[in-house]
Amino acid sequence: MSDISVPPLDLKSLLAPHREKIAAEINEVIDSCYFVLGPKVEAFEAAFSAYCEAAHCVGVNSGTSALHLATRVLGVEPGDEVIVPAYTFASTAWCASYEKATPVFVDIDPATFCLDPKAVEAAITPKTKAVVAVHLYGHPAAMDELRAICDKHGLGLIEDAAQAHGARLNGTRVGNVGDLTCFSFYPTKNLPACGEGGAVVTNSAELDNRLRGLRNHGSFERYYHNEVGFNYRMEAIQGAVLNILLPHIEAWTHARRAQAKRYTEALAGLPVELPQEAPGAESVYHLYTLRMPKRDELIAYLREKGIGTSNHYPRALHLQPCYADLGYKEGSLPESERAAREVINLPIFPSMSEEQQAHVITSIRSFFGS
Ligand SMILES: Cc1ncc(COP(=O)(O)O)c(C=O)c1O
Repeated sequence: MSDISVPPLDLKSLLAPHREKIAAEINEVIDSCYFVLGPKVEAFEAAFSAYCEAAHCVGVNSGTSALHLATRVLGVEPGDEVIVPAYTFASTAWCASYEKATPVFVDIDPATFCLDPKAVEAAITPKTKAVVAVHLYGHPAAMDELRAICDKHGLGLIEDAAQAHGARLNGTRVGNVGDLTCFSFYPTKNLPACGEGGAVVTNSAELDNRLRGLRNHGSFERYYHNEVGFNYRMEAIQGAVLNILLPHIEAWTHARRAQAKRYTEALAGLPVELPQEAPGAESVYHLYTLRMPKRDELIAYLREKGIGTSNHYPRALHLQPCYADLGYKEGSLPESERAAREVINLPIFPSMSEEQQAHVITSIRSFFGS
């Protein structure tokens, strides 16, 4: 075992410089006894919509709730179809299932791990109601093509930006091309809360208003319910923490992009596929992914060297037991299945030291005997 250890993510070192401020903010919430929604959440909503360069932000209690609300306000109904990538976190598909609609899994573009627009167009049927584009690993999906396809067929377009706070495509921040964009602030995300958290961002005042009612039991006035709603409210403590951390996200993204560049330069020439940015795309490198057919040997080797890797996602969604009734067979979405077999996520987090990253690089090179 090596002296240097490198976890996949070290949240403790990331949060350490901000602990006192976070603790003071949490104490302020406790003193106020305003624990749910309220001024801290409103301040965060204003700051985060400005950060996304979008008009509205509705704070909720998770990225999954954000996706569910986005699906509901687009009018997805039982029996409708919602097109989602097969290679993503499961919540991307839950939003269709929660509304008793059918998730229709389509393949990814292997260059970006994001939805393949041609596969989306081929999957459209008269029942299709919406498309969910995931900006996977922090890389923006092909939004211009997807917007054009959705407009041509009259479909709603949701962006799942749970992993992509601040990513840009052709200069535009994620959150401005889809009808609604969903974020997660789960602690492992690029902008972490100290607990669960999420948000929906939109440029539509009408959708914003509907979301605000739905997250709060379908209610704008206590004990009067316009529609059957949910308890998806953001907690004040999470709003307060996010207000402290949001001003740091640009520096964090800068650090992630510099680390990604360093990996790409140092690992060039090895028999692995390195991540690429599509033309016009600015990834926020939520994860840095290598691809190689025999990944398990490298994972074990790195573990011996004290390096933690992660493996999202070892099984594509169309082959998950919970979706067995949809009848997808192995081989039906080959790029998603290949990604599930080949991807290794290397440590990448803004507080990773140069020494830690150098240890990862040297170890990978030594695995390949170079
Ligand atoms: C792509 C993607 N979508 C949705 C989610 C769901 O977010 P949450 O865990 O906040 O519910 C996550 C994260 O877990 C995710 O990575």
